[in-house]
Amino acid sequence: MTIIVTGGAGFIGSNFVFHMLKAHPDYRIVCVDKLTYAGNLSTLESVIDNPNFRFCKLDICDREGIDKLFEEERPDIVVNFAAESHVDRSIENPEIFLQTNIIGTSVMMDASRKYDIKRYHQVSTDEVYGDLPLDRPDLFFTETTPIHTSSPYSSSKAGADLLVLAYHRTYGLPVTISRCSNNYGPYHFPEKLIPLMIANALADKPLPVYGKGENVRDWLYVEDHCKAIDLIIHRGRVGEVYNVGGHNEMANIDIVRLICKELGKPESLITYVTDRKGHDMRYAIDPTKIHNELGWLPETKFADGIKKTIRWYLDNEKWWKNIISGEYQNYYERMYGDR
Ligand code: NAD
Ligand code: DAU
Repeated sequence: MTIIVTGGAGFIGSNFVFHMLKAHPDYRIVCVDKLTYAGNLSTLESVIDNPNFRFCKLDICDREGIDKLFEEERPDIVVNFAAESHVDRSIENPEIFLQTNIIGTSVMMDASRKYDIKRYHQVSTDEVYGDLPLDRPDLFFTETTPIHTSSPYSSSKAGADLLVLAYHRTYGLPVTISRCSNNYGPYHFPEKLIPLMIANALADKPLPVYGKGENVRDWLYVEDHCKAIDLIIHRGRVGEVYNVGGHNEMANIDIVRLICKELGKPESLITYVTDRKGHDMRYAIDPTKIHNELGWLPETKFADGIKKTIRWYLDNEKWWKNIISGEYQNYYERMYGDR
């Protein structure tokens, strides 16, 4: 079995590569990644010499390059993680999100059709459903919740999802889609809430909380997401969407306070800053379908996962300090300078 994993040098993609090489030692995993600011080859250091692993520096929008790779590898399955993934960056500059997230998806699916793959899996997000109100804790996103996006990022992901379903109906491409809630864990890029707060707290820098910090996200340990995708590509029904989430809703401010507590840092570091434009209030996944059909349930409790994650950042300072010492500084200044 040969699986092409796009975006495998990023946060979730790399964790998925590690999971698959361990769980299926007889599979060949071919990682396609453009190595944008969010991709890091050093993340894949531990597997780069594995004979069942190949890394290809390639843009998913590069039709010729992608076709050539399919010709060489004749993959059975494609799992498309590659994307521009940060909401704040999409608000600053939407265009690259449309290019990679929509056009890139179509290029991957065209190659999948041409080479007759057995399964094309699109890694999507709960953000395609928009948000839920804080005063209706009884409401959750199900697979039939209407698409109702807020940011250029979520709109580009929703556009890709619609295209995936259209390729299934029009061309019979054997697709599946997963829509997951917020992930956390090792190799999470430090522009995102949890790693950013850990890195800033360790440096005794202000912890920039958007608005009042009341926004709620449904956090899932990254390994649980990887296991869900593994199940879906093997046993999920073709043409179906599966929501993936942990029933672990937390307000941003509570996460930041918890990180301060775990690191022994004062809450006086917390600084309320101008809110994100169009900021979604609450995400909450109903994972009943994937549980009933595939037996998936999250295994890592947040209390354990956040400790493991903080420990990982303490033990792997070199990985993230390397990232925040470069171009990231300009991004941080632009995003937070006079916020
Ligand atoms: P990430 O930003 O950490 O990684 C994205 C990876 O894609 C990087 O390695 C980058 O180099 C690569 N990439 C970007 N553009 C590319 C292109 N044109 N061609 C080839 N590679 C390219 O993102 P992530 O957080 O790991 O998210 C992975 C996927 O999961 C995305 O599709 C995202 O929408 C989805 N998702 C993320 C979360 C989350 O909480 N992080 C939750 C649900 C869904
Ligand atoms: O729900 C899934 C989505 O989760 C994925 O599709 C996205 O790719 C992923 O980036 C993530 O999106 P969010 O916007 O929810 O994640 P982020 O870490 O950027 O922000 C989480 C919350 O924290 C959000 O309410 C904004 C807030 N925040 C974020 C940052 C970076 C702050 O208050 N301060 C910050 O500095």
